[in-house]
Amino acid sequence: MTFYVLTLFPEMVLEPLRFSVMGKALEKGVVRVKALNVRDYARDKHKMTDDYPYGGGQGMVMKPEPLVGTIRSVLSEDPRAWVVLLSPQGIPFTQKAAHRLSGFRTVALVCGRYEGVDERVRGFVNEEVSVGDYVLSGGELAALIVIEAVTRLLPGALHAPESAQEESFSGGMLEYPQYTRPAVFEGKAVPEILLSGNHQKIRQWRRKEALLRTWIRRPDLIRAQELSESERRLLEQLQDDP
Ligand code: ADE
Repeated sequence: MTFYVLTLFPEMVLEPLRFSVMGKALEKGVVRVKALNVRDYARDKHKMTDDYPYGGGQGMVMKPEPLVGTIRSVLSEDPRAWVVLLSPQGIPFTQKAAHRLSGFRTVALVCGRYEGVDERVRGFVNEEVSVGDYVLSGGELAALIVIEAVTRLLPGALHAPESAQEESFSGGMLEYPQYTRPAVFEGKAVPEILLSGNHQKIRQWRRKEALLRTWIRRPDLIRAQELSESERRLLEQLQDDP
């Protein structure tokens, strides 16, 4: 899979990708990331990429020609590239969205800057995605989030691919509590059941803990879950006696 990142700050995107899981995935060729500098597609002699907003107001707006020129250059490489604009006005980026994007051969991530992009650029993108309800100074960090979340799902990116399935959100729930050695840390012991070797009991305990944690921290996620009768009863008890 290939990501193009359309940005005024290519290093801001490429540098952080050199480490850990992402660094290895790039080395192994599981994924390719190409950063295109939007300034290279500016038409005027000053290579301007932003300008004052029509109608007045604070801040600058990214001009359409350099952005659309960069998008066209990606499409000339792969006419089927899926073009994503990163902006706080987009639809929320979720694990499900990461799975969906992992199915494309080429994804182009368009990073806005300043106060926004000229509205007419939206006519050249397939979708608009936000990584959360807060405002970043540009789409670069958002692009990194998307690249990392998608790459983890690609075959060959993780040592143990099943870990991507067990993680938080993959089953639509938060992850159960994890422990490693020592068995007792500053007086706090690891739950007995995890030392029992009884894998069925451990599985049940983890499912219950994941359920309780999700119910307490993210009740919105529970609504989408298919619960067994005993799990439903457990949550009802919790509701009566939290
Ligand atoms: N650009 C600025 N803020 C953003 C956000 N929350 N998500 C995606 N892109 C952004």
